[in-house]
Parts: sequence; C-alpha cells; structure tokens
Amino acid sequence: MKLWKIALIGLGSVGRGVAQVLKDNPQFIIIAAADSKSGVINPSGLDIEVLLAKKKTTGRCGDPKLSAARIAAEADYDILIEVTPTNSVTGEPALSTIKTALLRSKHVVTSNKGPVSLASAELLGIAEEKNVGFLFEGTVAGAVPILRGIKYGLAGNKITALYGVLNGTCNYILTRMEGEGLTYEQALAEARDLGYAEADPSSDINGTDAAIKLVILANTMLGMNVTLADVNQTGISGLTVAALHMANINGQSIRLIASLNPEKNTLEVSPRLLPKDNPLVVSGTLNAVTVETEYAGAITFIGRGAGSVETASAILADLLFITDKYDR
Ligand SMILES: NC(=O)c1ccc[n+]([C@@H]2O[C@H](COP(=O)([O-])OP(=O)(O)OC[C@H]3O[C@@H](n4cnc5c(N)ncnc54)[C@H](OP(=O)(O)O)[C@@H]3O)[C@@H](O)[C@H]2O)c1
Repeated sequence: MKLWKIALIGLGSVGRGVAQVLKDNPQFIIIAAADSKSGVINPSGLDIEVLLAKKKTTGRCGDPKLSAARIAAEADYDILIEVTPTNSVTGEPALSTIKTALLRSKHVVTSNKGPVSLASAELLGIAEEKNVGFLFEGTVAGAVPILRGIKYGLAGNKITALYGVLNGTCNYILTRMEGEGLTYEQALAEARDLGYAEADPSSDINGTDAAIKLVILANTMLGMNVTLADVNQTGISGLTVAALHMANINGQSIRLIASLNPEKNTLEVSPRLLPKDNPLVVSGTLNAVTVETEYAGAITFIGRGAGSVETASAILADLLFITDKYDR
C-alpha cells in the first residue's frame, strides 16, 4: 500500500475532524501540521492523538518558529490540506500557501472558500499544468457532495438553473423564528449559544457566505466567470416574525435562497417564499441545493452543510479521489 504524506494546515474544527477521520484511513500519514502560532514536521509520521492532545493543552501544535508558509515550501508531503479561516477579500494567507504547494507539484485539498472564490481559474490552471489535484468539495455545503454530484453524477447534462439553501446559520434562525415564534435577535442569540453562529455572524446573516459559495459553484461547475460583486445580495436581518407567520398561514415558508441562472448570467442571494412542500424547505442547519438539468430534470441534494467530521468527510472524499486518480 502506498503511503500518502499529508501536511495539515489548520487545526481548528475542520482540521481536528480531518485528523480524526485520517486515523481510520492508514494509507494517509500526517507528516506536518500547523496552526496560527506554530508548526511541526516528522517525516515518519505524527501521532495524531499526541498532536491533538498537545494542541488542546498548550494551544500550539509545535514549534513557534515553524510557520505554515515554511511547511508548504519545504516539507516533503504529497498532499497539502488547507483548513484555515476564510478571507474573502484577499484569500490570504491560504491563497499563497496553496499556490506554493501547487507550484511544487503537490496535490491540494481545501475547505477554505476564500482562495477558491477569488482564484479558482488560476489555481486549477496551475494544478493542471503540474498534473496534480486541486479539490475543494468542502467549500460548498459541507458534507453534501454537490460539486462531485454536478461534475460527475450529472456529467453531460446542461444545467439550466441552480438554487439552494447554502447557509446553515440563516436556515437555523429562520426555522426557529417560524417554528417557535422567536424574534430574529432571539434566534440569533440561540444560534450563537449552540455554536452555529460565529462571534461575528455578519457574513452569514447578510448573505455573503452563501454568495461566496454561489460564486464557487458558478465558476467551477457552470463555466461562468463571476465575482462576489456580481451577486445581488440581501440578507435575513430585516425579516420579522410577522412575515414568517403570514407565510405560514398561506402554506409557505421563507428561506434564504442562493440562485443562479447560467443563461441569463444572474446570481442572487435573498429571502424567498417557498411552498412548504418544496424540498428546499429544510430545517435547522441543513443545506439543500436543487439543480435543474436538461435530461435529468430537477435533482435536489440535502445534507449537513457544516461541522467538524461532516466537512472532513468531504475532504476525505477529495483525498481518495486523488489517491485513485494519481496512483498509477
Ligand atoms: N467549521 C465548519 O463546519 C466548516 C464547514 C465548511 C467549510 N469551513 C471552512 O473551513 C476552514 C476551517 O474552518 P474551521 O471551522 O476549522 O476554522 P477554525 O476552527 O477557526 O480553525 C482555523 C484553524 O486555522 C489556524 N490558522 C489560522 N491562521 C493560520 C495561519 N496563518 N497559518 C496556519 N494556521 C492558521 C487556526 O490556528 P489556531 O488554532 O492557532 O487559532 C485554527 O487551528 C474555514 O475556511 C471555513 O470557512 C468550515
């Protein structure tokens, strides 16, 4: 069995999930890891339990003098996994880390939306030139295999429209407002207490997070060439309990829907009224995406859009795709 050497950049929620999942997949060994303050390299493989325990007790995984940038540039790995926070303005520092790895002919897997939404064409171009994989299933809808579902499951189908619930935090808030009559502020506070919303939830609430995912879908799956500025965006903070109540009386629900139409070149994120039996009316933190196609009709993907091992599941699928395609 070929051993695939992994450099794991980021040891937060997703990075820890990846480390857990890799314990069950012995063809992968983590030979390097980094967090924001330190890094560690062991060419014969790091003990995952020791790595996670050290991170938990000290807040660091290794040596403060060893950065993610140095690991990307110098360590002897096959695949770099980039799972640091999303910067949707510059993509940095992840964008540079990913480029460094690809230019060294290393495969890259990421769940970081910043670099993919800003520079997918450039990064995929480098990957192609170097004959390595650059995969990012976890950037859109967490565990839901939406990118691979479109690219391979629906291969050959023209996609005429795509719309979905791509932000679990907003969906949770709307579900609680609708089901329990909570105000927007109460539902947001609850989402924060449960760890669904960030300390600063503005990019979820104003629709930016969903818009970034829409840009990734548009550019990497539908052959469009768009940026965040092309998305017509409205968030959920203006929604009232009365509006949800009124919708309910009429057999409808309100969901934050991200939609795109490749023929009209339009992209939008906004609250929409949907009949309650529409498959996109999912509850809690679930994500759902309907893809309308030429031959297959409408297909809806539903599942967990975030979470530690859920996102690691998408990363594992990307890793296995690479080992299958490039181990020849
Ligand atoms: N959480 C989810 O459910 C989910 C789902 C889909 C996609 N994503 C995306 O996946 C990525 C990771 O998410 P997360 O929830 O795991 O984030 P997180 O919990 O905030 O963890 C981020 C990790 O990256 C490290 N980091 C920050 N800056 C760094 C740097 N310059 N160099 C090296 N490491 C650095 C942090 O270090 P410290 O530990 O030292 O702070 C931390 O270990 C994000 O881009 C997010 O948008 C997350």
